[in-house]
Amino acid sequence: MLLEGKTAFITGTNRGIGFALVEKFSQEGATVIAHARKTNAEHEDNLLKISNKYNNSIIPVYFDMQDIAGMRAEVKAVLSKVDNIDFLVNNAGVSSWQLFPMTKVQTIRDEFEVNLFSPMELTQIVLRKMMKQGYGSIVNMRSIAAIEICPGNCAYGVSKAAVKMWTEVLASEVGQFGIRVNAVVLGMTNTDMARQIEEKSRTRDASFVSALKRLDEPEEIANAVIFCVLTMLRLLMDIR
Ligand SMILES: NC(=O)c1ccc[n+]([C@@H]2O[C@H](COP(=O)([O-])OP(=O)(O)OC[C@H]3O[C@@H](n4cnc5c(N)ncnc54)[C@H](OP(=O)(O)O)[C@@H]3O)[C@@H](O)[C@H]2O)c1
Repeated sequence: MLLEGKTAFITGTNRGIGFALVEKFSQEGATVIAHARKTNAEHEDNLLKISNKYNNSIIPVYFDMQDIAGMRAEVKAVLSKVDNIDFLVNNAGVSSWQLFPMTKVQTIRDEFEVNLFSPMELTQIVLRKMMKQGYGSIVNMRSIAAIEICPGNCAYGVSKAAVKMWTEVLASEVGQFGIRVNAVVLGMTNTDMARQIEEKSRTRDASFVSALKRLDEPEEIANAVIFCVLTMLRLLMDIR
């Protein structure tokens, strides 16, 4: 187990890629702080099954990414329960998929809140702990939607383009404190989000944009995230 003794904070874990991330980090022995919007018996049951299977500790935490005050309070409370925070995965995200002339600017603001501003707030809180420790790894979720030009993709694509710049600038600022900031650039992945995009864009099969001619699986994305955090650990070992 590669991540025994390490703690990972992962947002948006009740379904999709976030859920696959909880399983993968648990499999590697990490303690997982598993965020979801609201408490839900099925989600708690799923977390329990994973922690029983891998014999690790999973700490659920609940807040709406659009409720910044609530988020701050919950995050501070949960961070006080752990000694160290090794990894933060800013996974929760939302995609409205609408043609720009029909999109309310408020919808775009809401999407930016979840995809950019709320992860920024969360990262600032977590960074304080990571900077004191002198190490940490932060992984953001980018998207090909910020690279490929596609009608209907304005709010989501622009918010993910901002995540790209934020990731790179932050990496340049905190690398000197032993903190790595990376982003995984996802193609279409087999989750509710891809299915909704297929429906809204009236594309029967979103895998058309993939070189593999299939959707990626959430577990494949989780593997890429694990690769990013392991790289941080290897670098640390080189330094010590
Ligand atoms: N799937 C793809 O094809 C694809 C492609 C490129 C990038 N990505 C990125 O990968 C990440 C994970 O996406 P996914 O495919 O797993 O999406 P998903 O299946 O739609 O899951 C999204 C997750 O984010 C949470 N979330 C959304 N808004 C929230 C809010 N206001 N407060 C709290 N939680 C909120 C959802 O919680 P609820 O269940 O409560 O809504 C859910 O847990 C996202 O950042 C996404 O942009 C996905």
